[in-house]
Amino acid sequence: MPNSRFAIAILAAGKGTRLKSKLPKVLHQIAGRPLLGHVVRAASSIVAPADIFCIIGHEAERVRAEFAPLGTRFIEQFEQRGTGHALMQCRQALAGYDHVLVLSGDVPLIRPETIAAVRDFHIAHAAAMTILTAEPLDPFGYGRIVRRVEHGVSTDQVEAIVEQKQLTPAQEKIGEINSGIYAFNVAELFSRIDQLSTDNPHGEFYLTEIVSILRRDGKPVLALPAAHSNEVLGVNTRRELAQLDSILRERKTRELMDDGVTIFRPETVLIDADVTVGADTVIEPFVQLLGETTIGEDCLIRSYSVLTNARVGNRVRINHGTLVEDSTVGEAAILGPYSRIRPGSEIGPEAHVGNFVETKKAKLGRGAKANHLTYLGDVEIGERSNIGAGTITCNYDGVSKHKTVIGAGAFIGSDTTLVAPISIGNGAYVGAGSCITRDVPDDSLGLTRPELLIKEGWVTAKRAKMEAAKLKK
Ligand code: UD1
Ligand code: MG
Repeated sequence: MPNSRFAIAILAAGKGTRLKSKLPKVLHQIAGRPLLGHVVRAASSIVAPADIFCIIGHEAERVRAEFAPLGTRFIEQFEQRGTGHALMQCRQALAGYDHVLVLSGDVPLIRPETIAAVRDFHIAHAAAMTILTAEPLDPFGYGRIVRRVEHGVSTDQVEAIVEQKQLTPAQEKIGEINSGIYAFNVAELFSRIDQLSTDNPHGEFYLTEIVSILRRDGKPVLALPAAHSNEVLGVNTRRELAQLDSILRERKTRELMDDGVTIFRPETVLIDADVTVGADTVIEPFVQLLGETTIGEDCLIRSYSVLTNARVGNRVRINHGTLVEDSTVGEAAILGPYSRIRPGSEIGPEAHVGNFVETKKAKLGRGAKANHLTYLGDVEIGERSNIGAGTITCNYDGVSKHKTVIGAGAFIGSDTTLVAPISIGNGAYVGAGSCITRDVPDDSLGLTRPELLIKEGWVTAKRAKMEAAKLKK
């Protein structure tokens, strides 16, 4: 049946009571991406976004707002009365499909290859329902798979899924669990879904009960064991959230290393799922690369640096303890140690930004340098200009922000304040310690400097006076 129409439904309406959170469960993040984001991403490589139906309920508007840009559809489950009830809401939406793959918004490690394997197995065996199963180290909390036994041998037919709370002592020994990932024949599912009961400890409609209903009618329900049991781990508690986060991050560092990135002590490094890093870049321990950060080739990212949505070119060196957020860094630039590159900064190629320099919406031209103790906010700096230690762009007048423009090849002496709006011309100089309040033209000097007073012998006289006063007492 190569032309059968497949939809994917993602169960994502639950509150996530066990997380004890104000945030809906599927918005909790691992590896810098919400749980549901991981699942939608995997689903999108199997079917078009328009064939993906996210079932949302708890804080539906918040979940919808977050995922609407991905182009999936949403179905609202107004009351969360169980996983079976969630799927009941899809009856109309799925009417035009032959099969539906059901994924869980809280089972985020699932890979596209595995979803495709469930689909292909389901079609090849003409099953009414196919269940992806696994044998994790600790099956506690999961529904268990009761297989049909024929002549003392267990078959790949499933008779029932029994939830943790309903297990008999004998069933507690079953190591094979329900992943919550299934394929269904749409007609077989919806002709029986109304038979689900609420006869269980939570009084909910459990989707898992559909197994015994289908079996009663002699319909084939098959188990497909997952190749990697890690992939089907679910998130119900904060501990599981942390556990899955580390699995994903380990997967990520392994992939990067396979692609030619050196990562020392990878277990200390935090790299989000969407980050890319070029070959021959070296990442030192305790680095964090977050959000949509991209890093070029042959870079060095030294310890304790944190890059969030940073776009970094090739051959860049980022020294210890540097923070970069929502900014770009051109090739062969050098940052840090201890630079803070705030949003909207564009550090040009070969530019240097040194220790205790803070930039915000600062554009530095090729080879420009600000090596020490400086604030550069709302500023454009031309190529090769040198900004001395202690320079401050005074960009805020208490009400609005104003811009500073510094031309190419300019020299700003140490301890200068540039009161914006202001412009310093190409090749201009500003003398150390100046407070610049008017524009300095090209190739000119700007200088404000009170006359230097030297009183020779003043200290000697002062000391003598103080000594005399002491003797009088
Ligand atoms: C479920 C399965 C269990 C399986 C486990 C795998 C049932 C009854 N049990 O248990 O057999 O081993 O997943 O992780 O299905 N949801 C809704 N609407 C609801 C209730 C839940 O959309 O009314 C969503 C949740 O947001 C979640 C998913 O369905 O994404 C699973 O629900 P959850 O409560 O986590 O079920 P488990 O107890 O994990
Ligand atoms: Mg769950």
